[in-house]
Amino acid sequence: MKDLNKYIAIIQSGGVVAFPTETVYGLGADAWNPSAIQKVFEVKGRPSDNPLIVHISNVDQVHDFSSEIPESARVLMEAFWPGPLSLVLNKKPEVLDAVTAGLDTVAIRMPDHPIALEFISQTGPLVAPSANRSGRPSPTKASHVKEDFGENFPVIDGAATRVGLESTVIDLSSDKPAILRPGSISKKELEDVLGIEVEEAFFHQVEKPRSPGQKYSHYKPKAEVRWLRNNEPTNDESAIYLLLSKAENESNIIHYNNNLTHLAAELYDRFRQADIEGYDSVVIEEFNESDSPIASALLNRIRKALQ
Ligand code: TXA
Ligand code: MG
Repeated sequence: MKDLNKYIAIIQSGGVVAFPTETVYGLGADAWNPSAIQKVFEVKGRPSDNPLIVHISNVDQVHDFSSEIPESARVLMEAFWPGPLSLVLNKKPEVLDAVTAGLDTVAIRMPDHPIALEFISQTGPLVAPSANRSGRPSPTKASHVKEDFGENFPVIDGAATRVGLESTVIDLSSDKPAILRPGSISKKELEDVLGIEVEEAFFHQVEKPRSPGQKYSHYKPKAEVRWLRNNEPTNDESAIYLLLSKAENESNIIHYNNNLTHLAAELYDRFRQADIEGYDSVVIEEFNESDSPIASALLNRIRKALQ
């Protein structure tokens, strides 16, 4: 395991440190330190009405943040933690307003990454938004964090993240479970485990998303993102093509062999690459929501980048 002591000391003295999770890199700060959390908002340039997810390393820590843990939450923790699922629960009164942006609920997850778990077990629970500047794609590599925050920014390097898209956020604070943000854990997987229907309450499914973060237009590279048109040739050298079924390989044509999990893992890296290398557009081959469990999350992130 990496030597984490230097980074643990930064958190303990009220600083912020970027660390890897299985989804994207997070910008960690002590979940009980208001001035550390303030720094997270400042560093990211994040609107203060957008709440943060608390990251824990041990299921028992949930009780520090919520005293109303429904059976549905227990079942989902057992099935999916550690993993890319954030649970929105009614919060305890002592949870800081800076964490929840004044809401009555708090989002909590246990990341499935050995470095994250070791780190949090030493620091205690951390708030951790994605470690990008607001409006930039979430970082899936340590180098992305440095692109946004500078070469000297403290980041624990854990190589490229496995999932590449942010966690599924599910609201369990009322009796009707609702997905507030789709992620790699799909509606079907959640319904199979819960045995009841799960609503979808996110951008493009409903007019008014219930998760504050969903109203902000994230993930937009400078390059124009668009779908590949029917029978469109892939010969524009100022475009980067992300293809699924077509088998071409050029430096600007990346072929994912119908593997949407692989495309999800690389999407944000490709957005960043397009901007660094000065491409005018990112052209993506279309796919269906039923193609893979991660298709819904991938469509959600791509559609946000289209506008
Ligand atoms: O995969 C992830 O969840 C990553 C990694 C680092 O763990 N974190 C992440 O955090 O994506 P962030 O802050 O970029 O996104 C958190 C999302 C936002 O859309 C926010 O509005 C929503 O979760 N959220 C947080 N607390 C909430 C709450 N109490 N009620 C509703 N939505 C909440
Ligand atoms: Mg984010």
